[in-house]
Amino acid sequence: MDSEMTEKYILVFLSILVSCEATQRPNIVFIVADDLGWNDVGFRNPNMKTPNIDKLAAEGIIFESAYVQPYCSPSRTAFMSGMFPFKVGMQHKVLSRVQPACVPLNYTFLPQELKKLGYATHMIGKWHLGFCKWECTPTYRGFDSFFGYYGAEEDYFNHSVGAFLDYRDNELPAWNYTGEYSAYTFARKAVDVINQHNVSQPLFMYLPYQSVHAPIEVPEKYFNMYPNVLNHGRRTFSGMVSALDDAVGNVTKALKEKGLFENTLILFTTDNGGPLENNANNWPLRGGKHTIWEGGTRGTSLMYGAGLKKTKTTYNGMMHAVDWKPTLVSAAGGTPDRSIDGMTHWESIRNGLPSSRTEFIYNLDDFEPATEGHAGIRVGDYKLLMGYPGAPDGWYKPNMNRTRGDVFDNLIYLKGDSPVHLYNIREDPTEHNDLAAKMTDMVDKLRTRIDYYRKQMVPALFPPPDPASFPKQFGNVWSPGWC
Ligand SMILES: *[C@@H]1O[C@H](CO)[C@@H](O)[C@H](O)[C@H]1NC(C)=O
Ligand SMILES: *[C@@H]1O[C@H](CO)[C@@H](O)[C@H](O)[C@H]1NC(C)=O
Ligand SMILES: *[C@@H]1O[C@H](CO)[C@@H](O)[C@H](O)[C@H]1NC(C)=O
Ligand SMILES: *[C@@H]1O[C@H](CO)[C@@H](O)[C@H](O)[C@H]1NC(C)=O
Ligand SMILES: *[C@@H]1O[C@H](CO)[C@@H](O)[C@H](O)[C@H]1NC(C)=O
Ligand SMILES: *[C@@H]1O[C@H](CO)[C@@H](O)[C@H](O)[C@H]1NC(C)=O
Repeated sequence: MDSEMTEKYILVFLSILVSCEATQRPNIVFIVADDLGWNDVGFRNPNMKTPNIDKLAAEGIIFESAYVQPYCSPSRTAFMSGMFPFKVGMQHKVLSRVQPACVPLNYTFLPQELKKLGYATHMIGKWHLGFCKWECTPTYRGFDSFFGYYGAEEDYFNHSVGAFLDYRDNELPAWNYTGEYSAYTFARKAVDVINQHNVSQPLFMYLPYQSVHAPIEVPEKYFNMYPNVLNHGRRTFSGMVSALDDAVGNVTKALKEKGLFENTLILFTTDNGGPLENNANNWPLRGGKHTIWEGGTRGTSLMYGAGLKKTKTTYNGMMHAVDWKPTLVSAAGGTPDRSIDGMTHWESIRNGLPSSRTEFIYNLDDFEPATEGHAGIRVGDYKLLMGYPGAPDGWYKPNMNRTRGDVFDNLIYLKGDSPVHLYNIREDPTEHNDLAAKMTDMVDKLRTRIDYYRKQMVPALFPPPDPASFPKQFGNVWSPGWC
């Protein structure tokens, strides 16, 4: 073959490649770790063993200012709907299994948007957005298939809460997984989805793992990876994180074996900051889960893969959980809904450009006297907190050494709450230097913004427990059908 011919062949080959790329939308794998703290991953903390997550982080983009809500249901509401929880009634703590409520059905969820773009949509893991009627559940809100549980938490081995099962294969109770740790099952189910996927369609997989939420349970193999951690709780928790990492590794391996990996975009994020009381850690950030301190809301998250142009880097642009839905829709080649709170950052993230977000609400919640006035806002570099920010407060290093006693070992400083706090988060991300008394004009400016958003708040959907929910009337399975 002469060189001109070779050149022609190369050109034809390239144009085929280009046309394939143009027609095939990226596969999207959205992994959520439950209750994973800022300091609970190997890429921040050398004591943690998370080689698979670290590799995605090192070769992708680590988000330094991607915010989440301080609890599970509100963050997941933001992920799925692109709406701030205080706009849809999900601002107060989390939904319990016995409350007749779910995220209002008039909001379009992320998988529904992706279905419009031709995606196959699968979910494996934890829902926690309400299940009192079928219309509230994953297979009615955009997912072609579902394997997992509807509630907040359960035993990792028997998949029950007390005597009652919460585990489903699509809509049917899944009784036959007793004894198998959920990280194994969820990874295997994800691998099955990948293997069975018809590659003529783009794939969206939402993988909100049970790991590493309480109860603190892990197979011995992972516990044994941390012989130097003397504190039993922290050692078990660390093992749980490594089990999650192994599960992530098995999913990426399956994507590679199926030939999908090159055209897959992976988003990995926690749903809220780490709960200190369950041995998670957010050092050096202040506070943890349940609080609107940075430790409760600045989420561990990263992105890897298809479409990203500026990688092996960190991204400092301001982002909020509401932004993931439109960002992923953009990555998929779609046009995000402009009526939602979330804004797309796809072009900014992939090219390493500044974020277009300049402010966001940490939370607004007036539901009960204890939370009345509870409010947090970020505008530019400044953060204003009003009312009760949630507990615990303070700065904690991981409790590695004490074998018994208080999980809040190594407490550095615990400070009483005053009603108003102001911080410059760019200069003081660990919230040590309260500027409220010094910068009263800034306090007033941010308070005005809070008042503006407060007018858009809807009442919290937080009904009292309903006995109709009790699983005895549904064959001992937590089930829809009572609201
Ligand atoms: C959903 O319904 C609520 C309550 O009726 C309403 O306030 C809200 O504007 C609706 N949102 C959308 C996106 O339709
Ligand atoms: C599941 O395990 C928990 C302990 O984590 C226990 O309290 C519960 O009774 C068990 N449920 C079943 C159905 O075995
Ligand atoms: C559980 O049962 C379902 C339905 O028969 C089956 O598809 C699945 O493979 C079983 N899983 C295990 C772990 O036995
Ligand atoms: C990952 O796959 C390996 C090999 O199949 C298996 O031994 C391991 O248990 C899996 N880990 C998880 C968390 O699924
Ligand atoms: C995959 O989907 C395409 C388009 O719908 C169809 O033609 C093909 O038969 C499917 N392949 C398999 C293995 O099901
Ligand atoms: C644990 O104890 C060792 C030895 O006393 C000390 O060097 C190390 O800093 C301690 N670790 C933490 C996290 O406190």
